[in-house]
Amino acid sequence: MRVAFVGKGGAGKSAIAGTFARLLGRSRDHVLAIDSDPMPGLALSLGVPSSDAPIPDEAVEERAEGEQGPRYRLRAGLSAAEAVQRYAVEGPDGVRFLQFGKLRGHVATLARSQFAFRQIVAELPADDWSLVGDLPGGTRQPFFGWARFAQTVLVVVEPTAKSLLSARRLARLALAEHPPEALLAVANKVREPADVDLVAQRSGLPVVAAVPWDESLAAAERAGRAPMDAVPDAPAVAAVASLLERLRKGCS
Ligand SMILES: Nc1ncnc2c1ncn2[C@@H]1O[C@H](COP(=O)(O)OP(=O)(O)O)[C@@H](O)[C@H]1O
Ligand SMILES: [Mg+2]
Repeated sequence: MRVAFVGKGGAGKSAIAGTFARLLGRSRDHVLAIDSDPMPGLALSLGVPSSDAPIPDEAVEERAEGEQGPRYRLRAGLSAAEAVQRYAVEGPDGVRFLQFGKLRGHVATLARSQFAFRQIVAELPADDWSLVGDLPGGTRQPFFGWARFAQTVLVVVEPTAKSLLSARRLARLALAEHPPEALLAVANKVREPADVDLVAQRSGLPVVAAVPWDESLAAAERAGRAPMDAVPDAPAVAAVASLLERLRKGCS
């Protein structure tokens, strides 16, 4: 399963993606959760102790002069799967975690790690690894190349005017650049059935799941804990579990 969560900042991408990856980790061996947002969010929602999971310089080499291809790549002999085993942080439920964008030190360090990150996501054997991506909130950035890994793009939408507007924009972008096999909406912070209808109408996307407004999720976040650790029986967690089931049935 290769899934990317996109949506406006604050819509609930990290909370849902983290919970989704944890649930997936309970039944699958190889789950990689990837955070491409420079602001840490996914680590917390996954329950990974540190959000610092960069790809070190030693794992990356510069393209030789006169050679074709991207400027940096994983060093010769290091496969994508080995890089994950070696450098991704292992979190609860066996989920591996890689951070794409955190800026530490010079921006050149970030560029090296980003090329490697992109290569890992592109080359990790699809039949062996599940990928769950938490993409940044902006409308343009998410689809710059590397998000192609996703067979299923899930747009997380709150029933608010702004969130609905950016959902439509994201949907158009996703279809324009590299159409995924499935492009679906997840209605989040739902307080009444009419909220789901609103998301369906205004986003123009099929709504694959409705996650209720759940105070305990916000409380877990305030306490610095992952929903799966702090409130595993919360209604919002149950809704993410049904989302996973639905996608499984659709073989995404
Ligand atoms: N269903 C929900 N009910 C209540 N609060 C939620 C729900 N989903 C997310 N939140 C809260 O909303 C805030 C933003 O969520 P987050 O996952 O960080 O959004 P994003 O990653 O899209 O920016 C967090 O405080 C989170 O705990
Ligand atoms: Mg986030």
